[in-house]
Amino acid sequence: MTTKETLLALFEKNRGYFISGEYIARTLGVSRTAVWKAVKKLQKEGFDISAVTNRGYCLSKDTDILSAPAITQYLSGDCKDIRLEVFRTVDSTNNVCKEKANQGVADGYVAVASSQSSGRGRRGRTFYSPADTGVYVSIMFRPKDFHGRGIVKLTTMSAVAVCKAIENLTDKEASIKWVNDIYVDGRKVCGILSEASYNLEDAKLDCVVVGIGINLYPPKNGFPEALADTAGSILDKPGQLSRNKLVAEVLNNFMKIYRNDDKSYVDYYREKSFVLGKDIDVITPKSTRRAAAIAINDDCSLQVRYEDGSEEALNSGEISIRVN
Ligand code: BTN
Repeated sequence: MTTKETLLALFEKNRGYFISGEYIARTLGVSRTAVWKAVKKLQKEGFDISAVTNRGYCLSKDTDILSAPAITQYLSGDCKDIRLEVFRTVDSTNNVCKEKANQGVADGYVAVASSQSSGRGRRGRTFYSPADTGVYVSIMFRPKDFHGRGIVKLTTMSAVAVCKAIENLTDKEASIKWVNDIYVDGRKVCGILSEASYNLEDAKLDCVVVGIGINLYPPKNGFPEALADTAGSILDKPGQLSRNKLVAEVLNNFMKIYRNDDKSYVDYYREKSFVLGKDIDVITPKSTRRAAAIAINDDCSLQVRYEDGSEEALNSGEISIRVN
Protein backbone atom coordinates (compact mmCIF):
# COMPACT_ATOMS: atom_id res chain seq x y z
CA MET A 1 0.00 0.00 0.00
CA THR A 2 1.17 3.54 -0.73
CA THR A 3 1.32 6.17 2.02
CA LYS A 4 -1.88 7.64 0.59
CA GLU A 5 -3.72 4.30 0.82
CA THR A 6 -2.48 3.53 4.34
CA LEU A 7 -3.45 7.03 5.39
CA LEU A 8 -6.91 6.58 3.92
CA ALA A 9 -7.32 3.33 5.84
CA LEU A 10 -6.38 5.17 9.05
CA PHE A 11 -8.82 7.98 8.29
CA GLU A 12 -11.56 5.42 7.62
CA LYS A 13 -10.95 3.84 11.03
CA ASN A 14 -11.25 7.27 12.65
CA ARG A 15 -13.90 8.76 10.38
CA GLY A 16 -15.39 11.89 11.98
CA TYR A 17 -12.57 12.24 14.56
CA PHE A 18 -9.45 14.36 14.49
CA ILE A 19 -6.11 12.56 14.49
CA SER A 20 -2.89 14.45 14.96
CA GLY A 21 -0.28 14.74 12.23
CA GLU A 22 2.27 13.45 14.69
CA TYR A 23 0.23 10.33 15.50
CA ILE A 24 -0.36 9.65 11.79
CA ALA A 25 3.34 10.11 10.98
CA ARG A 26 4.34 7.73 13.79
CA THR A 27 1.74 5.10 12.83
CA LEU A 28 2.68 5.19 9.16
CA GLY A 29 6.43 5.48 9.80
CA VAL A 30 6.75 8.57 7.59
CA SER A 31 7.54 12.27 8.12
CA ARG A 32 4.84 14.83 8.94
CA THR A 33 5.59 16.45 5.60
CA ALA A 34 4.82 13.16 3.84
CA VAL A 35 1.52 13.01 5.77
CA TRP A 36 0.67 16.54 4.73
CA LYS A 37 1.44 15.77 1.07
CA ALA A 38 -0.69 12.63 1.15
CA VAL A 39 -3.57 14.57 2.76
CA LYS A 40 -3.32 17.16 -0.01
CA LYS A 41 -3.56 14.40 -2.63
CA LEU A 42 -6.66 12.95 -0.98
CA GLN A 43 -8.27 16.38 -0.71
CA LYS A 44 -7.61 16.91 -4.43
CA GLU A 45 -9.40 13.64 -5.14
CA GLY A 46 -12.43 15.02 -3.34
CA PHE A 47 -12.07 13.52 0.16
CA ASP A 48 -13.46 16.01 2.63
CA ILE A 49 -10.55 16.21 5.12
CA SER A 50 -10.30 19.18 7.44
CA ALA A 51 -6.92 20.27 8.77
CA VAL A 52 -6.95 22.26 12.02
CA THR A 53 -3.85 23.54 13.84
CA ASN A 54 -3.21 21.68 17.12
CA ARG A 55 -5.97 19.15 16.37
CA GLY A 56 -4.74 17.47 13.21
CA TYR A 57 -6.81 16.01 10.39
CA CYS A 58 -10.35 14.69 10.20
CA LEU A 59 -12.14 12.81 7.41
CA SER A 60 -15.72 14.08 7.33
CA LYS A 61 -18.40 11.56 8.29
CA ASP A 62 -20.30 12.50 5.13
CA THR A 63 -17.58 11.72 2.57
CA ASP A 64 -19.00 9.06 0.27
CA ILE A 65 -16.17 8.54 -2.18
CA LEU A 66 -15.59 4.93 -3.10
CA SER A 67 -12.23 3.63 -1.92
CA ALA A 68 -10.65 0.25 -1.23
CA PRO A 69 -9.91 0.97 2.48
CA ALA A 70 -13.48 2.20 3.01
CA ILE A 71 -14.97 -0.93 1.44
CA THR A 72 -12.47 -3.31 3.04
CA GLN A 73 -13.37 -2.24 6.58
CA TYR A 74 -16.86 -3.73 6.06
CA LEU A 75 -15.79 -7.00 4.39
CA SER A 76 -16.43 -10.31 6.10
CA GLY A 77 -14.18 -13.38 6.29
CA ASP A 78 -15.81 -14.84 3.15
CA CYS A 79 -14.13 -12.03 1.18
CA LYS A 80 -10.66 -12.58 2.58
CA ASP A 81 -9.25 -13.86 -0.72
CA ILE A 82 -10.57 -11.13 -2.98
CA ARG A 83 -8.32 -8.42 -4.40
CA LEU A 84 -10.15 -5.16 -4.71
CA GLU A 85 -9.34 -2.21 -6.92
CA VAL A 86 -11.39 0.98 -6.93
CA PHE A 87 -11.46 3.45 -9.81
CA ARG A 88 -12.94 6.88 -10.20
CA THR A 89 -13.98 6.10 -13.75
CA VAL A 90 -13.34 3.32 -16.28
CA ASP A 91 -14.89 2.33 -19.61
CA SER A 92 -16.45 -0.79 -18.08
CA THR A 93 -15.53 -2.69 -14.93
CA ASN A 94 -16.22 -5.91 -16.89
CA ASN A 95 -13.49 -4.83 -19.34
CA VAL A 96 -11.09 -4.09 -16.47
CA CYS A 97 -11.64 -7.62 -15.14
CA LYS A 98 -11.09 -9.19 -18.56
CA GLU A 99 -7.88 -7.22 -19.04
CA LYS A 100 -6.69 -8.35 -15.61
CA ALA A 101 -7.48 -11.94 -16.53
CA ASN A 102 -5.40 -11.52 -19.71
CA GLN A 103 -2.53 -10.29 -17.58
CA GLY A 104 -2.76 -13.47 -15.49
CA VAL A 105 -4.41 -12.00 -12.38
CA ALA A 106 -5.84 -14.75 -10.15
CA ASP A 107 -9.45 -15.70 -9.42
CA GLY A 108 -11.31 -13.32 -7.08
CA TYR A 109 -10.23 -9.97 -8.54
CA VAL A 110 -12.87 -7.26 -8.02
CA ALA A 111 -13.08 -3.94 -9.91
CA VAL A 112 -15.28 -1.18 -8.50
CA ALA A 113 -15.93 2.15 -10.20
CA SER A 114 -17.82 5.30 -9.41
CA SER A 115 -18.70 5.82 -13.07
CA GLN A 116 -18.33 4.08 -16.44
CA SER A 117 -17.96 5.72 -19.84
CA SER A 118 -19.08 2.59 -21.76
CA GLY A 119 -21.08 0.55 -19.27
CA ARG A 120 -22.44 -2.56 -20.99
CA GLY A 121 -25.84 -4.12 -20.54
CA ARG A 122 -27.33 -7.32 -21.89
CA ARG A 123 -27.99 -7.91 -25.57
CA GLY A 124 -25.58 -5.20 -26.71
CA ARG A 125 -27.30 -2.41 -24.82
CA THR A 126 -25.42 0.27 -22.91
CA PHE A 127 -25.76 0.61 -19.16
CA TYR A 128 -26.11 4.20 -18.02
CA SER A 129 -23.39 4.67 -15.39
CA PRO A 130 -23.24 8.30 -14.22
CA ALA A 131 -20.76 9.50 -11.59
CA ASP A 132 -21.30 9.34 -7.85
CA THR A 133 -24.92 8.18 -7.69
CA GLY A 134 -24.41 4.49 -8.45
CA VAL A 135 -21.87 1.71 -7.99
CA TYR A 136 -20.46 -0.49 -10.72
CA VAL A 137 -18.83 -3.71 -9.56
CA SER A 138 -17.34 -6.65 -11.44
CA ILE A 139 -15.96 -9.89 -10.01
CA MET A 140 -13.57 -12.03 -12.03
CA PHE A 141 -13.51 -15.80 -11.64
CA ARG A 142 -11.25 -18.39 -13.18
CA PRO A 143 -13.37 -21.49 -12.70
CA LYS A 144 -11.69 -24.83 -13.24
CA ASP A 145 -14.83 -26.64 -14.17
CA PHE A 146 -17.49 -24.48 -15.70
CA HIS A 147 -20.28 -24.46 -18.25
CA GLY A 148 -23.08 -22.17 -19.41
CA ARG A 149 -25.44 -23.11 -16.60
CA GLY A 150 -22.75 -22.25 -14.09
CA ILE A 151 -22.70 -18.73 -15.47
CA VAL A 152 -26.46 -18.40 -14.98
CA LYS A 153 -25.90 -19.47 -11.37
CA LEU A 154 -23.36 -16.71 -10.80
CA THR A 155 -25.88 -14.23 -12.19
CA THR A 156 -28.63 -15.45 -9.91
CA MET A 157 -26.31 -15.55 -6.89
CA SER A 158 -25.50 -11.90 -7.61
CA ALA A 159 -29.18 -11.02 -7.84
CA VAL A 160 -29.73 -12.58 -4.41
CA ALA A 161 -26.66 -10.78 -3.02
CA VAL A 162 -27.96 -7.41 -4.23
CA CYS A 163 -31.53 -8.00 -2.98
CA LYS A 164 -30.24 -9.01 0.45
CA ALA A 165 -27.94 -5.97 0.55
CA ILE A 166 -30.84 -3.63 -0.25
CA GLU A 167 -33.05 -5.22 2.39
CA ASN A 168 -30.31 -5.39 5.05
CA LEU A 169 -29.23 -1.78 4.62
CA THR A 170 -32.46 0.06 3.81
CA ASP A 171 -36.16 -0.24 4.59
CA LYS A 172 -36.90 -0.97 0.92
CA GLU A 173 -38.24 -4.22 -0.42
CA ALA A 174 -36.38 -5.61 -3.43
CA SER A 175 -37.62 -8.11 -5.98
CA ILE A 176 -36.11 -9.96 -8.93
CA LYS A 177 -37.24 -10.04 -12.51
CA TRP A 178 -35.74 -13.26 -13.88
CA VAL A 179 -32.96 -13.50 -14.59
CA ASN A 180 -30.91 -10.51 -13.63
CA ASP A 181 -32.89 -7.35 -12.91
CA ILE A 182 -33.57 -6.03 -9.43
CA TYR A 183 -36.59 -3.86 -8.83
CA VAL A 184 -37.50 -1.49 -6.00
CA ASP A 185 -40.84 0.34 -5.92
CA GLY A 186 -41.66 -1.00 -9.39
CA ARG A 187 -38.48 0.32 -11.06
CA LYS A 188 -35.27 -1.35 -12.15
CA VAL A 189 -32.46 -0.32 -9.81
CA CYS A 190 -29.85 -2.91 -10.71
CA GLY A 191 -28.76 -4.92 -13.73
CA ILE A 192 -26.31 -7.80 -13.88
CA LEU A 193 -24.22 -8.86 -16.85
CA SER A 194 -22.16 -12.06 -16.73
CA GLU A 195 -19.66 -12.58 -19.50
CA ALA A 196 -17.19 -15.35 -20.30
CA SER A 197 -13.85 -15.07 -22.08
CA TYR A 198 -12.28 -17.97 -23.91
CA ASN A 199 -8.64 -18.55 -24.70
CA LEU A 200 -8.40 -18.42 -28.48
CA GLU A 201 -5.54 -20.93 -28.65
CA ASP A 202 -7.13 -23.86 -26.86
CA ALA A 203 -10.78 -22.64 -26.77
CA LYS A 204 -10.78 -23.17 -22.99
CA LEU A 205 -12.73 -20.92 -20.67
CA ASP A 206 -10.33 -18.26 -19.44
CA CYS A 207 -12.51 -16.30 -17.07
CA VAL A 208 -16.05 -15.45 -16.12
CA VAL A 209 -16.87 -11.88 -15.14
CA VAL A 210 -20.00 -10.97 -13.21
CA GLY A 211 -20.81 -7.26 -13.51
CA ILE A 212 -23.31 -5.57 -11.23
CA GLY A 213 -24.59 -2.04 -11.78
CA ILE A 214 -26.66 -0.44 -9.01
CA ASN A 215 -28.45 2.92 -9.08
CA LEU A 216 -28.33 3.98 -5.46
CA TYR A 217 -29.53 7.58 -5.97
CA PRO A 218 -31.22 9.33 -8.90
CA PRO A 219 -28.62 10.63 -11.42
CA LYS A 220 -27.95 14.35 -11.01
CA ASN A 221 -29.51 15.11 -14.42
CA GLY A 222 -32.14 12.38 -14.28
CA PHE A 223 -32.19 9.17 -16.33
CA PRO A 224 -31.94 9.44 -20.12
CA GLU A 225 -35.33 9.57 -21.81
CA ALA A 226 -35.16 5.99 -23.04
CA LEU A 227 -34.87 4.75 -19.43
CA ALA A 228 -37.14 7.26 -17.76
CA ASP A 229 -40.16 4.91 -17.63
CA THR A 230 -38.33 1.88 -16.24
CA ALA A 231 -35.18 2.88 -14.35
CA GLY A 232 -35.17 3.99 -10.75
CA SER A 233 -32.92 4.28 -7.75
CA ILE A 234 -32.95 2.56 -4.40
CA LEU A 235 -33.02 5.78 -2.37
CA ASP A 236 -34.04 9.29 -3.30
CA LYS A 237 -31.51 11.56 -1.55
CA PRO A 238 -27.69 11.36 -1.65
CA GLY A 239 -26.10 10.71 1.73
CA GLN A 240 -28.71 8.24 2.98
CA LEU A 241 -26.41 5.21 2.66
CA SER A 242 -22.67 4.80 2.24
CA ARG A 243 -21.86 3.47 -1.22
CA ASN A 244 -18.78 1.78 0.27
CA LYS A 245 -21.01 -0.11 2.71
CA LEU A 246 -23.35 -1.11 -0.11
CA VAL A 247 -20.50 -2.53 -2.21
CA ALA A 248 -19.14 -4.45 0.80
CA GLU A 249 -22.56 -5.85 1.67
CA VAL A 250 -23.09 -7.08 -1.91
CA LEU A 251 -19.64 -8.74 -1.91
CA ASN A 252 -20.20 -10.26 1.54
CA ASN A 253 -23.56 -11.70 0.52
CA PHE A 254 -22.23 -12.99 -2.78
CA MET A 255 -19.10 -14.60 -1.35
CA LYS A 256 -21.08 -16.17 1.49
CA ILE A 257 -23.16 -18.06 -1.06
CA TYR A 258 -20.33 -18.74 -3.53
CA ARG A 259 -17.55 -19.82 -1.16
CA ASN A 260 -19.82 -21.96 1.02
CA ASP A 261 -21.70 -23.45 -1.94
CA ASP A 262 -24.91 -22.45 -0.17
CA LYS A 263 -27.74 -23.89 -2.25
CA SER A 264 -30.47 -22.34 -0.13
CA TYR A 265 -30.00 -19.09 -2.06
CA VAL A 266 -32.28 -20.59 -4.73
CA ASP A 267 -35.21 -20.55 -2.27
CA TYR A 268 -34.58 -16.88 -1.60
CA TYR A 269 -34.33 -16.27 -5.34
CA ARG A 270 -37.74 -17.93 -5.82
CA GLU A 271 -39.25 -15.98 -2.94
CA LYS A 272 -38.09 -12.70 -4.45
CA SER A 273 -39.02 -13.46 -8.07
CA PHE A 274 -42.01 -11.44 -9.10
CA VAL A 275 -42.55 -13.24 -12.41
CA LEU A 276 -43.69 -16.52 -10.89
CA GLY A 277 -47.32 -17.23 -11.68
CA LYS A 278 -47.47 -14.37 -14.20
CA ASP A 279 -48.23 -14.32 -17.93
CA ILE A 280 -45.13 -13.33 -19.81
CA ASP A 281 -43.73 -12.86 -23.31
CA VAL A 282 -40.63 -14.94 -24.00
CA ILE A 283 -38.49 -12.84 -26.31
CA THR A 284 -35.66 -14.38 -28.32
CA PRO A 285 -33.76 -12.75 -31.19
CA LYS A 286 -36.12 -14.66 -33.54
CA SER A 287 -39.55 -14.64 -31.92
CA THR A 288 -41.84 -13.56 -29.11
CA ARG A 289 -44.11 -16.18 -27.53
CA ARG A 290 -46.76 -15.97 -24.85
CA ALA A 291 -46.24 -18.23 -21.83
CA ALA A 292 -46.96 -18.65 -18.16
CA ALA A 293 -43.99 -18.52 -15.75
CA ILE A 294 -44.68 -21.63 -13.68
CA ALA A 295 -41.50 -22.35 -11.68
CA ILE A 296 -37.91 -21.52 -10.99
CA ASN A 297 -35.92 -24.73 -11.17
CA ASP A 298 -33.05 -25.65 -8.88
CA ASP A 299 -30.54 -24.44 -11.49
CA CYS A 300 -32.45 -21.11 -11.54
CA SER A 301 -33.76 -21.71 -15.04
CA LEU A 302 -37.29 -20.38 -15.57
CA GLN A 303 -39.86 -23.07 -16.32
CA VAL A 304 -42.50 -21.74 -18.69
CA ARG A 305 -45.63 -23.23 -20.24
CA TYR A 306 -46.53 -21.98 -23.72
CA GLU A 307 -50.09 -21.53 -24.96
CA ASP A 308 -49.90 -24.87 -26.83
CA GLY A 309 -49.20 -26.65 -23.51
CA SER A 310 -45.53 -27.35 -24.21
CA GLU A 311 -42.99 -26.47 -21.55
CA GLU A 312 -39.43 -25.21 -21.62
CA ALA A 313 -36.74 -24.39 -19.06
CA LEU A 314 -35.27 -21.01 -20.05
CA ASN A 315 -31.61 -20.50 -19.40
CA SER A 316 -30.02 -18.54 -22.12
CA GLY A 317 -28.72 -15.03 -21.73
CA GLU A 318 -30.24 -14.38 -25.17
CA ILE A 319 -33.77 -14.78 -23.84
CA SER A 320 -35.59 -12.03 -22.06
CA ILE A 321 -39.10 -11.83 -20.72
CA ARG A 322 -41.77 -9.18 -20.55
CA VAL A 323 -44.27 -9.44 -17.74
CA ASN A 324 -47.81 -8.81 -18.97
C1 BTN B 1 -28.41 -5.08 -17.84
O1 BTN B 1 -29.25 -4.60 -17.09
O2 BTN B 1 -28.62 -5.23 -19.06
C2 BTN B 1 -27.08 -5.49 -17.27
C3 BTN B 1 -26.31 -4.30 -16.80
C4 BTN B 1 -24.96 -4.64 -16.18
C5 BTN B 1 -24.18 -3.41 -15.80
C6 BTN B 1 -22.94 -3.72 -15.05
S1 BTN B 1 -22.22 -2.29 -14.33
C7 BTN B 1 -20.80 -3.16 -13.92
C8 BTN B 1 -20.49 -4.03 -15.11
N1 BTN B 1 -19.76 -3.30 -16.12
C9 BTN B 1 -20.44 -3.18 -17.26
O3 BTN B 1 -20.04 -2.61 -18.30
N2 BTN B 1 -21.64 -3.78 -17.14
C10 BTN B 1 -21.81 -4.36 -15.83
